[in-house]
Amino acid sequence: MTRVLVLNGPNLGRLGVREPEVYGSATHADLVDAVARWAADLGLDVDVRQTDDEAVLIGWLHEAVDAAAHVALNPAAFTHYSYALRDAAAQVTHAGLVLVEVHLSNPYAREAFRHVSVIGPVATGTVAGFGLESYRLALEAIAARR
Ligand code: DQA
Repeated sequence: MTRVLVLNGPNLGRLGVREPEVYGSATHADLVDAVARWAADLGLDVDVRQTDDEAVLIGWLHEAVDAAAHVALNPAAFTHYSYALRDAAAQVTHAGLVLVEVHLSNPYAREAFRHVSVIGPVATGTVAGFGLESYRLALEAIAARR
């Protein structure tokens, strides 16, 4: 079965509590349940994880390369400045694996500092602005490309 790591960065463990007008009322546990359902329908073997720690996120990207797992990555604020995360993400796509950059909100419709993604140029593609549905669209893209 095709393996996919769904990786969520800092503050996404606070979904449901954190700025619900921007990120919606679903919690991270709701996100995990929804992703598990969508993955089962698409025949994908998913593992959903969240961390506030950049080093942990980088380690998970290395793990994806070594395990030949595709990745749906919501880098959260790291999107906008983490060259270390970008270098790790580049290893995923250079290994021939799909890496979809995912955002709940549409960063381009928000503050100027969110208009830059250092991850986008090394991702296979980006899905942003559809709330939890962004994750479903990312999984569909991975299922279509595998
Ligand atoms: C986010 C957008 C980022 O700008 C922000 O820092 C986040 C969440 C999103 O999913 O919309 O933490 O990645």
